[in-house]
Amino acid sequence: MSQVFSFRIPQEIHFGPGVYRKLPALVRARSTERVLLITDPGLVAAGVATTVASALTAAGSEVVCFQDIPPEPHLDDVERCRSFAAKQRAAVVVGVGGGSVLDSAKIVGGFASCTEPLASFLDREDTSLEPGLPLFLLPTTAGSGAEATAGAIVAFQERKRRLAGTYAHPVVAVVDPMFTHSLPESITLASGLDALTHAIESFAARRASPMSRLYSRAAFRLIVQWLPRVVADGKGLEARSHMSRAALYAGIAVANAGAGAVHALAYPLGGRIGVPHGIANAILLPHVLEQNMATCPESYAALCDESDTRSAQAKCGDVLATVQELLRTLKTPTRLVDFGVQGASLPALAEEAFTIRRLLENNARDFGPEEVLAVYQAAW
Ligand SMILES: [Fe+2]
Repeated sequence: MSQVFSFRIPQEIHFGPGVYRKLPALVRARSTERVLLITDPGLVAAGVATTVASALTAAGSEVVCFQDIPPEPHLDDVERCRSFAAKQRAAVVVGVGGGSVLDSAKIVGGFASCTEPLASFLDREDTSLEPGLPLFLLPTTAGSGAEATAGAIVAFQERKRRLAGTYAHPVVAVVDPMFTHSLPESITLASGLDALTHAIESFAARRASPMSRLYSRAAFRLIVQWLPRVVADGKGLEARSHMSRAALYAGIAVANAGAGAVHALAYPLGGRIGVPHGIANAILLPHVLEQNMATCPESYAALCDESDTRSAQAKCGDVLATVQELLRTLKTPTRLVDFGVQGASLPALAEEAFTIRRLLENNARDFGPEEVLAVYQAAW
């Protein structure tokens, strides 16, 4: 953990049931020009996009909508959306959706000032860009925390790649738990497991700071308490609210401290095999924790209770037991083979995961090719 740190969060965060009604005024305070609403076909069919668009229009904004962001979008999908934004001369971007939509919105807004292909920015942190379009993000899941993170993950040539730039960062996050109210159980679970992994990985990350750990710990506690309840009964607004807040906190933590080996190993499973991101995380998490805790127990010791004076090893045991119990309660998948992963493909998956240096080098302990493969084998 570093005692010298910088910290970045959206300029404004608005949270709570019904808070989406503030969005039109917040947008118009920044710009009275044309608004680009980015969303996905499911949210259009569910009427969610219309609810937001109507509120913006009623406040006097002219709204154009791009609704073709698929789940796990490819870079080409986002490129099409960027062209649409340029053609429509949009001055503001409003993203309404899950992590895929919000990540796409960040790329469209953050890279609006340049004309180079987006592919030329993959996997590098670009600080040379001119300001893009102001970004307003409204999540409809409680998971990715994309409303608080910089940059985005997209598919490109069967791999999950990262795009990040100075301006691919939300200006305003509007987190209204009511928008998660009708999520199906499978998405509630997978997105909650992503938030859980963000909380734990960011806490133990090498780039963790005392400030990021405040958010990691708070998120972890909320998720342990509320994820089982929200999966059991998605209609409870109290549980939905706590999970939306947990995902936001975990997003803030991971935006500033970064993730680790679980995410590095999860991306090839998503990119090549299509294992949902949160589920891939949940399968890998206990195995990575065992590896990390064996040599770096102090990285996790304060996750549950800062005032606990027992040894780091004992406190780590509690963290691992809490995670295992939570995953058991939630009945999460535990084996990669159940998703069609072939045993013979594990070395190729490990080779790809080992190239994701920004995550492995941020992991609590060094993670060599043998450790990567050992985790895949244990999870297979
Ligand atoms: Fe994630």
